[in-house]
Amino acid sequence: MHIIHRRGWEIPERQATPEHLAFSRRAFLVGGASAMALAPCAANAQRVADLAKLPDPTANLYPAKRNPKFTLDRPITAEKINDNYNNFYEFGTSKYIAEASQALPIRPWTVKIDGMVEKPQEIGIDDLIRKMTIEERLYRHRCVEAWSMAIAWTGFPLAKLIDFARPLGSAKFVKMTTFMDAKLAPGQNMSWFPWPYVEGLTLAEAGNELAFIATGCYGHPLDKQHGAPLRLAVPWKYGFKSIKSIVRFSFVEQRPKGYWEALQSSEYGFWANVNPTVPHPRWSQASEELIGTGERRPTLIFNGYGDYVAGLYKGLENERLWA
Ligand code: MTE
Repeated sequence: MHIIHRRGWEIPERQATPEHLAFSRRAFLVGGASAMALAPCAANAQRVADLAKLPDPTANLYPAKRNPKFTLDRPITAEKINDNYNNFYEFGTSKYIAEASQALPIRPWTVKIDGMVEKPQEIGIDDLIRKMTIEERLYRHRCVEAWSMAIAWTGFPLAKLIDFARPLGSAKFVKMTTFMDAKLAPGQNMSWFPWPYVEGLTLAEAGNELAFIATGCYGHPLDKQHGAPLRLAVPWKYGFKSIKSIVRFSFVEQRPKGYWEALQSSEYGFWANVNPTVPHPRWSQASEELIGTGERRPTLIFNGYGDYVAGLYKGLENERLWA
């Protein structure tokens, strides 16, 4: 007869704590003793600050192996420059939000998958990352404001998350949503912006091999200012499509309206593919500034990724593909 002897540290499966509950418990242990001595409001602030400092249990997966398929025509932007020049309106409208964004707790972090899927589900970020094989990719990034960077992202293809989500045949788009918590993110108190930040892709775009979910950059887990713990990277589109700090993937039939489109549809559209010949209503898109170098370069159609994605837009010539 085969008898299993449990060692001291082993617990039955049914007693194991799901990732998000384990984190709440740890946060209580980290912040609990000091928090109890404080007033309720201060205690909560203390708890949030302690959560923001929790270690990343997937840190040992970095640096991941680089996928040599994705090459650059320019040097990678220095990490220090990239880390201090960001768009993340949840933390303010300037480029200097790196410090403010450190207030965002990224553990526990639950990702919701819902809408037209076989089975809606919620999954903790570390369980999700461990289900995927992560790799490093060098991508260009072209902001609609006519500046650009080159980044070493780490993560996994969005197509893998779609396989995991198992959308129904009737789903046509994936809609992604950023966290919403105006107490943590002061920008979300600016009521004239259409919070939360939302972006969408067609399922054909999302399944393209370039569409990438970044969980890391520069060989380590993603920094908060870049949209930790997971953000989109779609390098053939203007940077505003690359939504940060995603909490929800919904599979839908109707085309989702993105944050910038909802704010100013005359300037920003759903497709937002990079095209140097179609100016923004207020400035030219013909060239871009490589941040950190002062250099200006001509912008390329689809940001140089036409071989991968041009085919996605055949038959859509009457759509507003370039805004
Ligand atoms: N995602 C959220 N949630 N909030 C934002 O303000 N800004 C977008 C995009 N994703 C934004 C966002 C814009 S305009 C750009 S150019 C990129 O993030 C900037 O990414 P980076 O700061 O890592 O360069």
